[in-house]
Amino acid sequence: MALIAPSILSADFANLQRDVEMLNKSDADLFHVDVMDGVFVPNISLGFPVIKAIKKHATKPLDVHLMIVEPERYIKTFKEAGADILSVHIEASTHLHRSIQMIKAEGMKAGVAINPHTPVSLLSEVIMDIDLVCMMSVNPGFGGQKFIENTYRKITELKKMITEHNAKVMIEIDGGVDLINYKKLIAAGADVLVAGNTVFTSPNPIETISILKKG
Ligand code: DX5
Ligand code: ZN
Repeated sequence: MALIAPSILSADFANLQRDVEMLNKSDADLFHVDVMDGVFVPNISLGFPVIKAIKKHATKPLDVHLMIVEPERYIKTFKEAGADILSVHIEASTHLHRSIQMIKAEGMKAGVAINPHTPVSLLSEVIMDIDLVCMMSVNPGFGGQKFIENTYRKITELKKMITEHNAKVMIEIDGGVDLINYKKLIAAGADVLVAGNTVFTSPNPIETISILKKG
């Protein structure tokens, strides 16, 4: 069984309160919120006013995934907007360790996100300091992309690193999670499954979340 984090990126932004309330009622554990700056990734998504609006109605923690350059500039502001878990990309952080310390000093859980091309081994020096690894299983920037199969191998490697260090880190899989691959991902060691397209294009999102949740 994994935690389920539906991605707000695939929600209907003109009916955001309705979709947030649907997720409140569902078996979802977290709200996954994707922030894109049009620089680190070739897309722009949402910012502080939208996160605050989600926070006002959400009854579950906000898992905020920053796909932005220089994320350290905004850590405090994301806390104020309502983030409970904050993930920064390793590829966008010159001083990753400092960013992790800043996130924790604000009382949030600290996550590090890694792109599909980034080796798991680069996490070894921070694995004891973080709460979550957001492993991208698509190239970040868009919802609804095809799952990259090499992710399974990376999960096994990360799981090994976590066990060797006796670290308390959750493995979150982000991108292309669907009703075909979710069981295999959980078996490989995923603790959190992000699902955008699979949940929000479903005729019955609540039921789809329950299926993912049952593992
Ligand atoms: C992609 C985002 C993902 C995305 C997942 O850059 O980080 O969180 O919303 O969407 P699906 O589940 O549709 O691949
Ligand atoms: Zn994401």
